[in-house]
Amino acid sequence: MTERNADHIAIYPGSFDPLHNGHVDIIRRGARLFDRIVVGILLNIEKAPLFTVQERVEIAREVFRDYANVEVDTFDGLLVEYARRKGAGVIVRGLRAVSDFEYEMQMALMNRNLNPGVETVFMMPSEMYTYVSSRIVKEVVALGGSVTNLVPSIVDDRLREKRHARSTLRA
Ligand code: PNS
Repeated sequence: MTERNADHIAIYPGSFDPLHNGHVDIIRRGARLFDRIVVGILLNIEKAPLFTVQERVEIAREVFRDYANVEVDTFDGLLVEYARRKGAGVIVRGLRAVSDFEYEMQMALMNRNLNPGVETVFMMPSEMYTYVSSRIVKEVVALGGSVTNLVPSIVDDRLREKRHARSTLRA
């Protein structure tokens, strides 16, 4: 694989717990820009995730089942090593607001230090989703609020199931 070909494959890494419409928006944009975009779900990021990695993979595969150039996969260890294994020359990250910038710059520069051959590309989601994060989605759902317009319908359904199971357990 030449370096030029590697630029046509991108990794979009994250925890995706859960996938929300801001993520979906970035993946759709990435699928238009790159030959292939690999949604890389990090294994073991949190000790107590809401969705298991298997559930997150199932959800993302279902949401992107009609996208031939979107692959959903999991990874462990260094992101740049994973990019190398996948033959990807680009890491895609979404940038919602200035508050994201410091952490994202730190990661991008550390990844560049580890492998200068991998470029981080930042993409902005639609302004409708600039305030949406997985953390805030989980908080709202845990407190009984609706996130129907902010997550794919399969995520909304699964969130309701989890909330129902938890309230049944508590009862
Ligand atoms: O959705 P998130 O939690 O913002 O994603 C963070 C992620 C998965 C991109 C980041 O934690 C990561 O790349 N982890 C892999 C470990 C790694 O390579 N660390 C060194 C670079 S900072």
